[in-house]
Amino acid sequence: MSDTPVLQRILYSKEQLAERIAELGREISADYRGKQPLFVGILRGCIMFYADLLREISVDCTMDFMCLSSYSGTSSTGEVRTMLDLRESIKGRHVVIVEDIVDTGLTLDYLMKNLQSRGAASIEICCLLDKPANRKAEVHPKYIGFQVENEFVIGYGLDYDELYRNLPYIGVFKK
Ligand code: IMP
Repeated sequence: MSDTPVLQRILYSKEQLAERIAELGREISADYRGKQPLFVGILRGCIMFYADLLREISVDCTMDFMCLSSYSGTSSTGEVRTMLDLRESIKGRHVVIVEDIVDTGLTLDYLMKNLQSRGAASIEICCLLDKPANRKAEVHPKYIGFQVENEFVIGYGLDYDELYRNLPYIGVFKK
């Protein structure tokens, strides 16, 4: 049962999210020992995930952010724009993109091509949720929190028309 009228049901509780994110943090830390990775958070959906994941990273690392826009309401427009770019060069850096959810993959396809042209040593994707049913572009996140069905989800950074990002859990949006 949900305590928010816009929710059909809760998918992942605060505790389930924390447990999975701690596992991801351990896995990424082991893979990047001695590499001083740069974690690029994709605003605004990544905020909760980014903040919690980075606290589980036990290697020296740096942080930067980009803001991309491609959505209006519950549907992707297919057109991606960079609203805010990285502050620093990624030349020679080991980059980990931190994203809330991969749906069509169009946003990350655009971002991967964009970042690859800047000379990073490596680029991997870490997404909290993967919704493979709707894929239109080939992207391969190395680190995935959970796979979800083709439903619109909100909470823990994910919005519907900018609302509900503040929910501490993830739930299915009631249309
Ligand atoms: P993609 O380009 O279709 O992969 O979508 C990427 C962006 O769309 C994500 O970073 C989210 O901000 C947004 N998005 C996709 N699916 C959902 C959803 O179920 N709930 C909320 N936002 C979503």
